[in-house]
Amino acid sequence: MKIIKVKDYKELSETAARLILEKVRANPQLVLGLATGGTPEGMYEQLVTDHRTAGTSYQQITTFNLDEYAGLPREDRNSYYTYMRQQLFDHIDIPEENVHLPNGETEDLQAECRHYEQLIKEAGDVDLQILGIGGNGHIGFNEPGTSFDSVTHVVTLDESTREANARYFSSLDEVPTHAVTMGIQTIMRAKEIVLLVSGESKADAIVRLLTEEANESFPASALLTHPNVTLIVDEEALKKVDQIKTN
Ligand code: PGA
Repeated sequence: MKIIKVKDYKELSETAARLILEKVRANPQLVLGLATGGTPEGMYEQLVTDHRTAGTSYQQITTFNLDEYAGLPREDRNSYYTYMRQQLFDHIDIPEENVHLPNGETEDLQAECRHYEQLIKEAGDVDLQILGIGGNGHIGFNEPGTSFDSVTHVVTLDESTREANARYFSSLDEVPTHAVTMGIQTIMRAKEIVLLVSGESKADAIVRLLTEEANESFPASALLTHPNVTLIVDEEALKKVDQIKTN
């Protein structure tokens, strides 16, 4: 795993955006795996600014998002579909048909999982996958204990995940209990992975990532066995790692 240490969230966002832009310019038909949450917001802002000022085009880019809540209508203000429209898709020139998120509001979620996995395979798998990490080590919505062999599947969200995401909802009760997520195997098939980690709330997760062997009780540790992962991490998230080194 290559590690890029950055000073703060701003530098993390700029570094991640630069990396994506390099790849998009080098391969205008890139298959891009995208993440939601607080962490990539600054990166998306940078991409939108670049599109406006430098005109980088996404006409032939295909995207697959990691996950989507189950049971929320696509137009709900908290769906990841809405998040992606607001953060990125409404502000760049990507055609609607090139954009993919799991459909979390279908009756038959199992069929949706099979369909989503199939679409990713038909696209030749993801070229560049952007990832965040949960405080519990989840990647996508693959919570601790998820098999490293998993493909796109329905998950029951950890209480810690629902609590972390409750900040976007009026109350914890409104946070969905289930989601559809790419599996760990799906993520690991990406040719290149960029993991973004920012802030003190991720400090314990970073310690685990940098000290443990690959194990299914810490999902992000699967990345240790991937040949092309870049971790972009800021000083706050590295706080406890420095303490370990100096103690
Ligand atoms: P965050 O979420 O970016 O909002 O911290 C990351 C995650 O849960 O994967």
